[in-house]
Amino acid sequence: MPTSHMGEHDRESDQRNTATVTAENPLTEDAAAAGVPAQTVNRPLGPDDSGIHPSDVQTVSVGYARVEIYQGTLAEQTAWLHLHNRQGTFRLVYWDPPFFSGKQKAADRGSFSDRWPDLETYLVEMDEDFARLKTLVHPEGFLVLHCDWHASHYLKVIGDRHFGYQNFRNEIVWHYKGRRQPARLVINSKHDNLLVWAASSRAVMQPVYDPWDREQYVSMKRQQVHSDEDGREWIWGHNGRGRARSYRIYLDEVVARGRAIDSVWDMPIVNTTAKERTGYPTQKPVALLKRIVALLTLEGDSVADLMAGSGTTGEAAALSGRDVWLGDRNPEATALIQERMARIAQQAPTHRGRIR
Ligand SMILES: C[S@@+](CC[C@H](N)C(=O)[O-])C[C@H]1O[C@@H](n2cnc3c(N)ncnc32)[C@H](O)[C@@H]1O
Repeated sequence: MPTSHMGEHDRESDQRNTATVTAENPLTEDAAAAGVPAQTVNRPLGPDDSGIHPSDVQTVSVGYARVEIYQGTLAEQTAWLHLHNRQGTFRLVYWDPPFFSGKQKAADRGSFSDRWPDLETYLVEMDEDFARLKTLVHPEGFLVLHCDWHASHYLKVIGDRHFGYQNFRNEIVWHYKGRRQPARLVINSKHDNLLVWAASSRAVMQPVYDPWDREQYVSMKRQQVHSDEDGREWIWGHNGRGRARSYRIYLDEVVARGRAIDSVWDMPIVNTTAKERTGYPTQKPVALLKRIVALLTLEGDSVADLMAGSGTTGEAAALSGRDVWLGDRNPEATALIQERMARIAQQAPTHRGRIR
């Protein structure tokens, strides 16, 4: 296990002011600014972190959202963003890395390898990428790490070292349906884990609600329903009839607002016949990303995904009026992202409103 760093700290503004990267030695400066441990800074540069990538950013408009697309590794993207003074500017960094599944996946529009020599090698790389991503998160922003049982428990510990245990906000369980087989060794695992850290205690989420109806609400409350003189239905609030601070809860208001979400999200995967399917392996559903964007950002905020794959985060963010950075080291992914952004541009809002 990597033993690097670093308790809680409010270093963000420091980082934004001091992390200027020189073209001569971009990675070293980047890594130092990112808090990467000394042995990482000093080791020889590998193909994955050779500094600024020659390809530059492509900027496209999707409605009024600005979408930036970059082909390169996460290390290269971070170095580029530091060079352009973008540290600490993203309210949401969504991170959907390889899960340590040991799988090699190929689909119509891309291939994806999740094979590693061992767990230690995987965790060292994840640790380094945590440090890089932390530098990009706004002081009142969030990092969401999408992972599953293969490594989630190790990643929680590493993430806590970077963001501080007290800044861990939620483990969201994304539960999906799928084929189930009887087994004697393990039961079917049908969920992913989304680990959410805030950059500081000042980061706030936005309320998100699920729709529900009168019957669901009444059966949850198990209380007598009353009607007022206008025929509006209501029940007593918390303290019960006759006690101090009792109040009426009107059913039509509760149903109109919806039910505040909890930490288990039931949403379908992108199946083989789904309209949104791009043909890229490991594609996540737009509905999932839209919910994350709505929960953790406001219209006009910036979102980043440095392992963007087919660009699901881009679709969710741009259609919700957020600017978005999308990078991936796989050229098949960035080509697909460009096509996808062009396709969704028709549906995108063209003026600011109250989009959630
Ligand atoms: C799980 S997929 C992301 C899928 C994406 N969320 C979607 O909905 O399509 C992970 C992506 O990370 C990319 N990747 C893996 N290691 C990377 C690295 N070091 N730098 C940049 N991209 C990387 C892979 O090419 C792959 O596209």
